[in-house]
Amino acid sequence: MSLAYRLLYAVGYVPWEQPAKLDAVHERISALFEREEEGRQPPYGQALDLGCGSGIWGVELARRGWQVTGVDLVPKALRRARARARQAGVELRLVEGDVTKLGATGLGSGFRLLTDFFLFHDELTDAQRVAMGREVTAIAAPSATLLMTAWAPGRRGPLPRGASRADVEAAYPEWKVIDEEPFDVVTGARFYRHIRKADPRVYRLRRE
Ligand SMILES: C[S@@+](CC[C@H](N)C(=O)[O-])C[C@H]1O[C@@H](n2cnc3c(N)ncnc32)[C@H](O)[C@@H]1O
Repeated sequence: MSLAYRLLYAVGYVPWEQPAKLDAVHERISALFEREEEGRQPPYGQALDLGCGSGIWGVELARRGWQVTGVDLVPKALRRARARARQAGVELRLVEGDVTKLGATGLGSGFRLLTDFFLFHDELTDAQRVAMGREVTAIAAPSATLLMTAWAPGRRGPLPRGASRADVEAAYPEWKVIDEEPFDVVTGARFYRHIRKADPRVYRLRRE
C-alpha cells in the first residue's frame, strides 16, 4: 500500500507539501492549533501527527509547545522529518509504522491532539479506515481532539478518492464531529486549480 508514497518520496515528487508554502495555509493551520491551546500554557501535552510525511506540521506543533510524535510508513519521509526538526531546533519523536496497526508500533497512549493532514482521504480501503479509527481511538486521551483534512469524495484517477463526513463518522464511531469547515485556502492557490472541485474540508472530532 505504501508503494506509491515510497516511489513519490524516492523521486522527490511531493505535491502535498506545496500548500505549506502558502502563508494563508500556515495561518489557517495555526488558527486550528491555537484553538486547541486556548486558555492553556505550554507544554500543551502529547500530540500525534498521523502520516506525518516530512514533518512540516509536526515541527510546527513542537515549535508551539506540544510534545510531538510523528508516524509514517515511509523511511525517507521520516528522514526528512528528522532533518527538518533538527534544523528547527525542536524535539520530534518519529516512528515508522502503519496507522492501521498503531498498536504494533509501541507509540504509547494519552495523545491529547491528533492530526491527520490528507492521509485518511487517500488510498486506505474502507476496512483500513475502520482499522485506523479503532487504533487511533485506542491511543487517544479521553476528550482528545482529532483534526482531519479531507477532499470530498470523487473519481480523480490516481488522486485521492476523498472522504465524506459520513465516512469519517463511520471510521470514528466513538468520536463526535464538533466542527466541519471548508479548507479552501488549499484549492484557492493557483497550483491547485485543477482540483478545486475537491472541496477540501477540515473536520474537528472530539473523543466522547
Ligand atoms: C498526502 S501525504 C501528507 C503528509 C503530511 N501529512 C503533510 O501534510 O505534509 C500522506 C502521508 O501519509 C503517509 N501514509 C500513507 N498511508 C499510511 C499508513 N497506512 N500509515 C502511515 N502513514 C501512511 C504517506 O507516506 C505520506 O507521508
